[in-house]
Amino acid sequence: MCSIIGYSGKEMAAPIIVKGLKRMEYRGYDSVGVATESDNQIELKKGIGKVNEVNLKIQLDTLPGKVGIGHTRWATHGKVTDVNAHPHSSNSGKIAIVHNGIIENFEELKKQLENEGYSFKSETDSEIIANLLQKNYELTKNVRETIMKTVSEIKGHYAFVAMFENGQLAAARFHEPLIIGVGQDNIFLSSDVLGFVEYTDNAIYMKSRNFIILDKWKFQILDFEGKDVKYEITKISKEFGDAYKGDYAHFTLKEIYEQPDTILRAGEKTVDAITKTADYIKHAKNIYITGSGTSYNSALIAKQILSKYAKIKVETIISSELQFSPDIIEENSILIAISQSGESADVLDAVRIAKKVNCKIISIVNLLTSSLVRKSDVVIGMNCGPEIGVAATKSFTSQLVVLYKIVQKLSNNNITINFENFAKSILKILENPTKIQQIAKELKDISDIYILGRGINYPVAMEAALKLKELTYIHAEGIPGGELKHGPLALMDSNVFVIIINPNDSTYSDTLTSAREIKVRGAKIIGISDIESDVYDYWIEIPKLDEILYPISEIIPIQLLSYYAALEKNTDPDYPRNLAKSVTVK
Ligand code: G6P
Repeated sequence: MCSIIGYSGKEMAAPIIVKGLKRMEYRGYDSVGVATESDNQIELKKGIGKVNEVNLKIQLDTLPGKVGIGHTRWATHGKVTDVNAHPHSSNSGKIAIVHNGIIENFEELKKQLENEGYSFKSETDSEIIANLLQKNYELTKNVRETIMKTVSEIKGHYAFVAMFENGQLAAARFHEPLIIGVGQDNIFLSSDVLGFVEYTDNAIYMKSRNFIILDKWKFQILDFEGKDVKYEITKISKEFGDAYKGDYAHFTLKEIYEQPDTILRAGEKTVDAITKTADYIKHAKNIYITGSGTSYNSALIAKQILSKYAKIKVETIISSELQFSPDIIEENSILIAISQSGESADVLDAVRIAKKVNCKIISIVNLLTSSLVRKSDVVIGMNCGPEIGVAATKSFTSQLVVLYKIVQKLSNNNITINFENFAKSILKILENPTKIQQIAKELKDISDIYILGRGINYPVAMEAALKLKELTYIHAEGIPGGELKHGPLALMDSNVFVIIINPNDSTYSDTLTSAREIKVRGAKIIGISDIESDVYDYWIEIPKLDEILYPISEIIPIQLLSYYAALEKNTDPDYPRNLAKSVTVK
């Protein structure tokens, strides 16, 4: 989604804001803007494109002053245009705002304000906040009263930062993230700690229905009723400072290559939580697992391994679907929510529905400061460090390792997994990507890819299709092998590529038969397997492993293939068009 940032301190604001926005670009990236205050005047620059591009064009970082606000946009209301980019200023030009979220009653408020003589330049719901603040400030002449009145009038989910022409900042939070960074001589207001981690490791996680007003670096936090709020300063984990590309061309590539290491760290430091989870599962009436996107594909794998290795039945639910059939969830059951960010609105909504009927919430989450963590009874950390590439890579394999550890616990440790050896075999896949790079060249001009897998390999096929779609924009579809004859076979001809996920497990021979049926229709076949076969036009070798571990070794070469095909197609692997890493709106 969008990211917002505010800065007030001893340094020039604009360069610090631009740097912070660059780091938070993963949240949304179709346009960017900065506004600063200097000598009681607000100056503003904004435009469409990514942070570096726009900065190069219009030098956002040269704006004067030591107070400022900034924004990267991921369009929801209004097209991607310069005018719709944030910040938005009020009609008087005396207040500027940046906003993340959605103002549901903006049309109604806009009409009211228009009747009172206000005019609007953009198509956004956000601009309404700027003019409403102006109106309320002219009425109350007081920032505290202005914010309280404004938040009582707007409906929806939001976090916004407002800058007044005297250099005062104020920010309010209602269900969208807002974190205060408290430095020695400076204060940051940001959607994510990545916005300020370079300058301070002291953070205050603002609560929903709270707002902050600040003058220079003195601040006060209040609730929407105007009462002072007690707050706690938390030390942010230094690992957030790792969010650099290092020697890698893209975050996505770096994150793919981190997997031999992140696999070893998954679930680490939360051993007790894994034991507790196993205990909850054993005694649960019903078990549901939910997630969105990649995290949902992990849930599908969880379902299979829990039934096969621990004889435990679970139901998987796509988070965004639960609202349409909430009765699926029976009272006093458990819901396992999987989410890298812990901020996906759909997942949080599923949790809300389950909590209503007294379910216990177990979350498998990477960002331990997220909203999901605060709503959970038990939390297992993925521990894979910041994942910046929009397409999930290392978080998927970390989720799977956490699930393996839960299954291990449930089977009284009868399943032995040597994660050290496993990590070494993963390293081998990554060591020499030349063959994968060559295959990626073949995908440059094709329009359809199908991925076939059976059993536990079918959710991997779904995840593979998701990676290919996100990174290459090629139409990709995961197919359960046995369903080939029930429709998809009609699509097979010499124009398509088919990836066959075919490890040496119980699905091997049936899947090989499917590959032959496809081959005779002229399609090109990429085999992902530990056994070579003449049916594959291209063979990507994976190590021979215990059945339960195959999904990780299968997806890693496909992540690489998707990455290199993205380069061939000249798309940006870190920031696929139209997508955002953390989808905090429904
Ligand atoms: C977005 C991302 C996906 C991700 C999904 C779930 O759609 O683009 O890559 O899988 O959200 O994210 P979560 O943070 O809840 O795992």
